[in-house]
Amino acid sequence: MSEPIRILLFGAGERGARVYGEYALKHLDEIQFVAVAEPNPIRCKKLAEAHHIPPELQFESWQDALKGGKMANAVINATQDEMHHESTIPALQAGYDVLLEKPIATTLSETLHIIQTAEDLGRLLMVAHVLRYTGLFQKVKQIIDSGRLGQIINISHSENVSYFHMAHSYVRGDWRSIRDSAPMIIAKCCHDLDLLYWFLGEKCIQLSSMGNLRHFRPENAPPGAPMRCTDGCPAAEECPFFAPRIYIENYPIKAAVSKAPNPLISMIGKLSLEHAQLLKNISKVFPTLKILTEYSGWPRNYLTEQPKSDQAVMNALRVGPYGRCVYHCDNDVVDHQVVNMTFESGITATLTMHGHGFEGGRTLRVDGSRATLLGKFSYSEAWLEVHDHASLNGERFTFPSEVNQTAGHGGGDAGLMASFVKAMRGEVEPLTSARDSLESHLMGFAAEASRLGNQTVAMDKFRTNL
Ligand SMILES: NC(=O)c1ccc[n+]([C@@H]2O[C@H](COP(=O)([O-])OP(=O)(O)OC[C@H]3O[C@@H](n4cnc5c(N)ncnc54)[C@H](O)[C@@H]3O)[C@@H](O)[C@H]2O)c1
Repeated sequence: MSEPIRILLFGAGERGARVYGEYALKHLDEIQFVAVAEPNPIRCKKLAEAHHIPPELQFESWQDALKGGKMANAVINATQDEMHHESTIPALQAGYDVLLEKPIATTLSETLHIIQTAEDLGRLLMVAHVLRYTGLFQKVKQIIDSGRLGQIINISHSENVSYFHMAHSYVRGDWRSIRDSAPMIIAKCCHDLDLLYWFLGEKCIQLSSMGNLRHFRPENAPPGAPMRCTDGCPAAEECPFFAPRIYIENYPIKAAVSKAPNPLISMIGKLSLEHAQLLKNISKVFPTLKILTEYSGWPRNYLTEQPKSDQAVMNALRVGPYGRCVYHCDNDVVDHQVVNMTFESGITATLTMHGHGFEGGRTLRVDGSRATLLGKFSYSEAWLEVHDHASLNGERFTFPSEVNQTAGHGGGDAGLMASFVKAMRGEVEPLTSARDSLESHLMGFAAEASRLGNQTVAMDKFRTNL
């Protein structure tokens, strides 16, 4: 029986504590968090208590944690994008293997430096491209590899970011500015570029990209809109971005639940929108309903350490970044971008990324010489359909979606952690090794160069000019 993998965690935030931390607590025979570096004292204490980490192994920063000797087998680095490079390099040099959140880094040179350092030191470096570990995308890969679709001709893939996720992360939040994060095509879609490369098992040879920030700009502000939603906005009723509706009423979450394919779940969602008090009363008898009537998850839990308290959330809206009018923020990342690609064998693919979806989720279509594969991977549903050309035969596959809370990223979060443990034990080759994950970042940075330079990029030249 192998020993559990001992982890030093960098960043006990949404990913570090709620996703990876919760996996460890359910799989203590596989992995144990033995030390934590987190400057937010409430988050640090909460994580340390949950994982029984003693005070001497609690650090205010990754810098402090690396001052002492090696205290674990590996580091899970779940700090923010702009911190990945400066924290991963010394962790690798200190002898740690690393599971690193995406994107690898916010610039191409830092991305290459991290990968080269890991290879030079012979460290395991895995990247959290969780979508490769989901049942749905593994099925897509399997169907493509099986030849059932015939010769692959074209892939149309869309990352439809919901309007409220866009407003939360890329207009008001941590990924709003290229200064602090990577270009959005990397920060949001390195997953999708990674999937296209993985599905086809061949490199992109040429791409072009276009996109811009079209909507979240001052000139689109409703007349009389103040700098902050909480300052009394004349457009509060009809504006989909009105912060109290998103964060206090939890309207987007309730709306998404009301669209769930499961009739009981969708009925509960509709009740929460149309008869909130009635559902609150029913939740006294059926406490499970409190997940919705007392919702305190993402994105609400980003605003305060007391996400259950409406008062605490409202205070955060009055003074913090998430109560700002989406037309009066310091955002500069795009809100839509398209990437057209040609791969080595001549297969073409398009990636569409936009931040104006009624719900969040990925849609894809793979057309082959023998059949077409259609797919949807969203908050409320996840399915694939194969339609054979030569017959009316079709096949439908359904998978767990986000709405059933048990499967973060459709099971990808747990799949990544399980694979990391096996890779640390030398039982498997990592599915998302750093070198393999580099390809998606190369395509992303090339797409951004194409967008900004208004030109098609030949990837072989782009690679050699690195
Ligand atoms: N794989 C995925 O699907 C996925 C999904 C969401 C986010 N992410 C990525 O995960 C990373 C973390 O995102 P998040 O949503 O958890 O952010 P977060 O802000 O909730 O967590 C980051 C944590 O790092 C802490 N931190 C700040 N300075 C530190 C320091 N010097 N030392 C140690 N910790 C420090 C912060 O206090 C915070 O708690 C980001 O890079 C993001 O892009 C990946």
